[in-house]
Amino acid sequence: MSAADVFRQQFGTDPEGLWAAPGRVNLIGEHTDYNEGYVLPFALPQRTVAAVGPAPAGEWTVCSTFADEPVSFGVTEPGAVTGWAGYVAGIVWSLQDAGFDVPGARIAIDSDVPLGSGLSSSAALESSVLTALIDLGGLDVPLERRPALAQRAENVYVGAPTGILDQSASIRCQEGRALFLDCRTYEIDQIPFDLAAEGLAILVINSNAPHQHVDGEYGARRKSCEEAAQILGVPALRDVTLDDLEDALGKLDDEVMRRRVRHIVTEDQRVLDTVELLRAGRTRDIGPLLTASHASMRDDFEITVPQVDIAVEAALAAGAYGARMTGGGFGGCVLALIDADRADQTVATVDAAYAKAAFTAPTSWIATAGPGAT
Ligand code: ADP
Ligand code: GAL
Repeated sequence: MSAADVFRQQFGTDPEGLWAAPGRVNLIGEHTDYNEGYVLPFALPQRTVAAVGPAPAGEWTVCSTFADEPVSFGVTEPGAVTGWAGYVAGIVWSLQDAGFDVPGARIAIDSDVPLGSGLSSSAALESSVLTALIDLGGLDVPLERRPALAQRAENVYVGAPTGILDQSASIRCQEGRALFLDCRTYEIDQIPFDLAAEGLAILVINSNAPHQHVDGEYGARRKSCEEAAQILGVPALRDVTLDDLEDALGKLDDEVMRRRVRHIVTEDQRVLDTVELLRAGRTRDIGPLLTASHASMRDDFEITVPQVDIAVEAALAAGAYGARMTGGGFGGCVLALIDADRADQTVATVDAAYAKAAFTAPTSWIATAGPGAT
């Protein structure tokens, strides 16, 4: 059922409008966002749609095709609404906390972004609701300010210590472009990313191995990076360049921390190199950077699982130019840069590798760069 149909069924009237925000694939730049470095996501065609209509001041009701019951709440404090509706209450809270007069609303959600697969269904939910409430209330919130408002909902209200990547992608990406974002200054550059014109494609392989954020692993990586920056006397690991790396590693006693730092510093450089190659029209040449990023996540940052490692190896064996896990890790999705006419063959090779390892079958599709929130 569409979001509009759910709205009509639940509230007995038409919604005032439909607002949509996409999930994302991060082409490269993993765990660099909270180190104030660089990322390069593009928006998926898969979107979360919010059908929204007015409600009395101070009252919000939200329902979703993914939830059994609607949830109603009034003026709210962090943590007061838990579960999936917490992402929505978090947006209301974040806007209010920033001083905006948020209109009461009735909200019905539908989505074709896979949930909990590292493709940012949560950011798509936050971004669709944020955009809807801003429009409905006629609030004056410039586009560049919106990702941080949605991120606060997730950090402070839901309690997941994530960076600015997902919400920036969902809100600021453009069709046919990859979003080059500096996570310190929030400066962006929209990089043309039309692979079909070059006979290329990005194959997304959902490992169907569930990923978890709110658990300790993500937070532990973040803490280790922040401690390293403190020891090195820099505001964030973004301030350590590849030229400084050996020196910096020499100042750290902890072997695990050294590896975490090496991932972040080399990953930032890989994003910059990828952007240079894309600008020069040398798309195929980004392949080795993608694969190197995966190796760094596997060996240094230690956030991959066997399912994603196997998907990367199988895609490369099938002739992919490069492949890597995308997103926060511990499951989720892999992307592979392939010749468009080799998609079936690549999928078959990956499926066979999963069958041999007795893993649950993956789900694969070609992803094109869609528009941001509308
Ligand atoms: P990801 O954002 O990578 O998909 P997360 O675990 O961060 O994974 O977020 C997934 C959670 O977001 C879901 O468990 C659910 O609570 C919430 N969510 C996302 N999309 C929807 C939706 N359409 N309806 C209800 N809840 C949703
Ligand atoms: C995400 C998280 C982002 C980013 C990413 C890893 O899932 O929400 O902020 O840190 O993991 O690059």
